[in-house]
Amino acid sequence: MDEEFDFENRIISPSHRDEDAESDNTLRPRTLREYIGQEKAKENLEIMIGAAKLRGEPLDHLLFYGPPGLGKTTLSMIIAQEMGVNLHITAGPAIEKKGDLTALLANLAEGDVLFIDEIHRLPRQMEEILYPAMEDYAIDIMIGTGPAAHSIHLTLAHFTLIGATTRAGQLSTPLRDRFGVQMRLELYTPEELSTIVRRSASILDVPITEQAALELASRSRGTPRIANRLLKRARDYAQVRGNGRIDLRMAQECLAMMEIDELGLDPTDRKMLETIVRFYGGGPVGMAALAATVGEEAVTLEDVCEPYLLQIGFLARTLRGRVVTRLGYEHLGIPYPEKLRAEQPGAGGVPDEQISFSESYAEDSED
Ligand code: ADE
Repeated sequence: MDEEFDFENRIISPSHRDEDAESDNTLRPRTLREYIGQEKAKENLEIMIGAAKLRGEPLDHLLFYGPPGLGKTTLSMIIAQEMGVNLHITAGPAIEKKGDLTALLANLAEGDVLFIDEIHRLPRQMEEILYPAMEDYAIDIMIGTGPAAHSIHLTLAHFTLIGATTRAGQLSTPLRDRFGVQMRLELYTPEELSTIVRRSASILDVPITEQAALELASRSRGTPRIANRLLKRARDYAQVRGNGRIDLRMAQECLAMMEIDELGLDPTDRKMLETIVRFYGGGPVGMAALAATVGEEAVTLEDVCEPYLLQIGFLARTLRGRVVTRLGYEHLGIPYPEKLRAEQPGAGGVPDEQISFSESYAEDSED
């Protein structure tokens, strides 16, 4: 197995990479109308924003959850833009001291949006500051130490907190309950991603055929961030190996060079599936044991590899752990052991014991 594989920089990792920064800003849709996909979330947002504007009130606190790379930050930017307010962006792990959070909150103007990415990683002591801030728009600040210590009650502007997380289940219940609205973002269909690829190609001024756009889209694991990254790699490839135009052949050659297969699986996904098959007889296996054998963080396998493998039915989550399905075996080109069908009910391609994708995101994993 390839121990040297650089997971964070795998081309299909949906986590944010520096090279995305520039394109994120040029390619990001600025309005809900421009935003492709997430129809349910968009419709809800449209109504919420319209109503809040009519009433002249700030938007309810909002929690976005779902796999990385689906547009949580983009939607927050759009919300702030459509509400005509400022957006302040931070992330759970960046808020280390109570002072950091009180300063952030105290600086918000009426209606402003505070976006906290990876809110499940916000230290618990910070949550206690957030409760009164979200509920009563007020915080109590301790001044001084020892006998001279006293607290000041500080009134805050009516702001909107937007939390984003890949792990809604890891949020404490009191924090989760303080969000008036919770929205799950879904993986995109190849057709939606193809529209996104063509939109991005047009902004970047790269000629691309419809077939090539659909090819890149179908191998982007339901994730716009990956689709845009593949588009940029294909642009490079077509410039150096072709005439600059991305046609189906250019796209396919480029994807083959990057070892991304027809379904968008990269060597790490295949390694995860192969490990379950070779070391654990197809499963079930708990995530902790699997991660140790694959040599990756459990969180990474769960957040990055698993959602898509579940979605395409190569993997199933059963009460006893993960199992590779018949489809997964077929994709790896390994014969499906018939005895598994009896031993692992639900693992034969019709995973009846499977915990659904949405539930897996609303709850903690079983191990
Ligand atoms: N670029 C990245 N995500 C997008 C989306 N959902 N719609 C349009 N362009 C995008």
